[in-house]
Amino acid sequence: MTAIASASLPPRLRRSLLSVPAINERALQKAHGLDCDGVIFDLEDSVAPARKAEARDNLKRFFAETPLRGRERIVRINALDTDDAGADLDTVLALNPDAVLVPKVTTPSDIIGICARLDRARAPKGLRVWAMVETPRAVLEIGAIAGTRQGHGARLDALVVGLNDLRKETGVLPQPGRAYLLPWLMQVVLAARAFGLDVIDSVFNDFRDEAGFAGECAQGRAMGFDGKMLIHPAQIEAANRHFAPGEAEIAEAQAIIAGFAAPGAEALNVIEIGGRMVERLHLEQAERLMHKVRQISARKDIA
Ligand code: COA
Ligand code: MG
Repeated sequence: MTAIASASLPPRLRRSLLSVPAINERALQKAHGLDCDGVIFDLEDSVAPARKAEARDNLKRFFAETPLRGRERIVRINALDTDDAGADLDTVLALNPDAVLVPKVTTPSDIIGICARLDRARAPKGLRVWAMVETPRAVLEIGAIAGTRQGHGARLDALVVGLNDLRKETGVLPQPGRAYLLPWLMQVVLAARAFGLDVIDSVFNDFRDEAGFAGECAQGRAMGFDGKMLIHPAQIEAANRHFAPGEAEIAEAQAIIAGFAAPGAEALNVIEIGGRMVERLHLEQAERLMHKVRQISARKDIA
């Protein structure tokens, strides 16, 4: 965690973020029993244009009557240049979720603009802004977009990659391994890390393809993503598992922490564990990993 991020809010578990169409009342109710780290209540692409107002009403009723507890709550609004964006933002201000997810961001001014709008409405500082990275412009300008975090976009907290839109806009075909997308994806991860943001991998459409999904989760984790946006409850368990530290990683982190805690090690910056050089920077990494492990067990206690 960088100084920028830790100065505001403690790190959150964001392994599995399930998109739930706000138009679907049955799916909304279903969210209560699901073990995802967060729910993205969607007012955008999963809701037909003629039913946007009904979806907003559903969401208001859901938050008033059966609010979701113990999970991060994110509301995805319609794009800022659409007729629905204003009413969606009013809904966000009324509901006060943990974050508003802005789709089809194109430039840094989109983030600065929405932050200014939330400030003018005196929204609580805890109401964060997340950005969908799904337009070619957003990928090209991702450093500047993420960098708004240090200035007038201080509410910005996470980037979420949207590959359905990005593929549509660029013509890159959906292929296993995502070879032609990797340079763009890594650029988004890098920009997020440069400015202390979390970064969430794209949805995987074929929710019956367990092996394909597991492969993409493992790839996303190896690339440095914090978690994955999901479309179906069947994807939650695998995302939680793949984006959590594995047994070997935990054992290694514990050995590093024990190694630096051993008598005499306090004055050392480099030690040897199992034939490998371990530096103090690895201790920081190990402590961060164990913090995540504790967060995961705390969540299991709540569930
Ligand atoms: N959130 C909560 N519950 C969900 C869900 C979701 N995203 N997707 C499916 N479910 C529920 C269904 O309601 C169903 O519950 P039930 O058995 O009590 O009726 C159960 O899980 C099994 O669903 P299934 O029959 O396998 O899928 P489906 O045909 O009902 O739905 C989709 C398939 C793709 C239409 C649906 O998963 C969906 O709408 N996903 C989200 C789409 C979205 O948000 N898109 C925008 C972001 S890219
Ligand atoms: Mg999209």
